[in-house]
Amino acid sequence: MNKDFFTRSYPATRMRRLRSKSSLRRLVAEHCIRIEDLILPVFLCEGTGVRNPVTSMPGVERFSVDIAIDAIREAVDLGILVVALFPQVETSQRDNNGSLATDSNNLVCRALREIRASNINISVMCDVALDPYTNHGHDGILRDGRISNDETIEILVRQALVQAEAGCDIIAPSDMMDGRIGRIRNALEEHGYHDVCIMSYAAKYASTLYAPFREAIGSDAHLRGDKRTYQMNPANSDEALWEIALDIQEGADMVMVKPGMLYLDIVHRVREHFNVPTFAYQVSGEYAMLRNGIDAGCVDESIIEESLLAFKRAGADGILTYFAKDIARGLNSTSTIRG
Ligand code: PBG
Repeated sequence: MNKDFFTRSYPATRMRRLRSKSSLRRLVAEHCIRIEDLILPVFLCEGTGVRNPVTSMPGVERFSVDIAIDAIREAVDLGILVVALFPQVETSQRDNNGSLATDSNNLVCRALREIRASNINISVMCDVALDPYTNHGHDGILRDGRISNDETIEILVRQALVQAEAGCDIIAPSDMMDGRIGRIRNALEEHGYHDVCIMSYAAKYASTLYAPFREAIGSDAHLRGDKRTYQMNPANSDEALWEIALDIQEGADMVMVKPGMLYLDIVHRVREHFNVPTFAYQVSGEYAMLRNGIDAGCVDESIIEESLLAFKRAGADGILTYFAKDIARGLNSTSTIRG
């Protein structure tokens, strides 16, 4: 520890001096939330003119593509730079191999083309994983009760390519298969998508906190078993560093830790070990807990900002959060946020 800490003493040093006024508090704030740090997840559904509430995530809705375009315009007006698209795929369109994932006419690809055609100035991130498309809710192909790694990668590569072709800026593999980042990176290079970024869900834990998301994309009713043979054990920490190292070596431009609030120690370790852009996902269950707590009057709304500052303190460069618009509104209207 810095020896300066031990040479200062009261009353020459009064820690409260710099806390005495809002202006001073803000002047010496070590961290802040910028709108640019936030990625807004957007749920898509079929149809036109549809806004469909996600029951377990009060305030979050699924949008048909036309409405999603309006919602994204609104996000851009608030200063948001990146959205992440997630599709709710109809049951009749799901199969064992998640075939629709590689179809350039699927919901995500159609939305991407609409966004590009509308000339909205937004970067778009898309998951690469099969769970919205499989009839068993897993992120990969199921063979004799096991998720088949190498066979799944072949499909993920094709999914990444159709998304890149439709205009995706950031490919975000969220499946946790081994070796997929390298294969996807090679395929993107081979097909001339040199500037398509990869944000790897590198350290993704098998968490109960994804439940509301699974309702949102309609895979909850389908999921057989759990994802513990491919997502990480919450008991582990060193293993996350291996995962991150592998994905960086294979060609990830940015890495992600997920979930967020219960895994801030991992965010911190990753930031300390690697000098790459590091993101954290404040996932659906975290959103639901905070939102329900606020709505029930248990905690004040400022918990949202406090939670996001925790991510920044831990070292996250950016955060995926369902609160992105709420925070952006707060930042735009100044004084409610900070100090
Ligand atoms: C799909 C995926 C999940 C999330 C993002 N991509 C769920 C899962 O792995 O089961 C969770 C996001 C959230 O809970 O907000 N692989």
